[in-house]
Amino acid sequence: MRIERLSVDNQRTQGPARRAWYQRYSAKHLREMERAARDALAARDALAAREDGAPQAGVILGAGACTELPLERLARACDPLTLVDLDAPGMGRALEELPDRLRARVRLLAADLTGGVSAALREEMGVQPWRDLRALGGMALLDALADCLERVTVPDPPEIAGLEPRGFGLVISSLTLTQLYSLPLLDALDTLLAYAPDLAERRDEHPRYVAAERDFRRRVAMAHLTLIARLLAPGGAALLTTDKTGYLLSPRAGPHAGEGREALETLPASALAWPDDLAARFILVGPPRAWAWMVAMPEGETPGRAYDVVAAILRPLDS
Ligand SMILES: C[S@@+](CC[C@H](N)C(=O)[O-])C[C@H]1O[C@@H](n2cnc3c(N)ncnc32)[C@H](O)[C@@H]1O
Repeated sequence: MRIERLSVDNQRTQGPARRAWYQRYSAKHLREMERAARDALAARDALAAREDGAPQAGVILGAGACTELPLERLARACDPLTLVDLDAPGMGRALEELPDRLRARVRLLAADLTGGVSAALREEMGVQPWRDLRALGGMALLDALADCLERVTVPDPPEIAGLEPRGFGLVISSLTLTQLYSLPLLDALDTLLAYAPDLAERRDEHPRYVAAERDFRRRVAMAHLTLIARLLAPGGAALLTTDKTGYLLSPRAGPHAGEGREALETLPASALAWPDDLAARFILVGPPRAWAWMVAMPEGETPGRAYDVVAAILRPLDS
């Protein structure tokens, strides 16, 4: 399962060295993340002052090594502050960056934010007779894979032991939402590549598979919104940050130099209509923000990568 590789993959993409890279090449991304965290804290504190209420506890979903969030500021403002991610060593690295006196406030919770969707999909896929389906030819294999995506249970809300419902004055979802569905969908693609690589390229032409992927993305995204709503205490505030569109930037040299950028929606409206799906479940605090996040500069014949990121501050509807 792709989620099993997160701890290894994140070492390349997270941590202090990566932050230094962002400071050089994507400083605006760090500034915007800091600003979003500050605004979310201000929203929590504004209401807490009036209602004497939101708990000081905070939680960061998809915290990883907290490369982008101002962890120290958040740890000062939240007690306790719970970091949740599947990457336990990554969260450990985040903790090491904090001064000793703040470390005691921070709890690390290694958990799957989807409530086990990748494992459930693996079970669904594990009982399919892939070799027989390949022998049948045609689209049988894609139909079976679509079946798996349609049948797989997506817990809504995801049950995560150790997170108290309505227990957090601040809930941050930190650039993790699209990974929650993309990684299991990549597991499905891996199965396709293993048994019918020719069909992998044609999956976008198969309406049933396209619909199964689309509905799967939506179920996972909506379950994540339910999780945020469930964890938020009355009077609390949430920050949802997510990539929305990914870009492949043309390389500087070679045959594809100067071809411009290729865009792929990573959060299509069919998964989550931004911001309408938020407005249906939360009170939006101020207008959502958007900015560019540079992830890799184009170098030689290697393309670069970037994302459009969006962020919204939310309050529970019963605030
Ligand atoms: C783009 S990173 C976020 C970066 C992180 N907030 C930081 O500041 O370094 C996405 C995070 O989501 C985590 N993640 C992906 N799928 C997950 C899942 N199903 N459950 C828990 N965490 C997951 C990854 O381990 C990764 O740390």
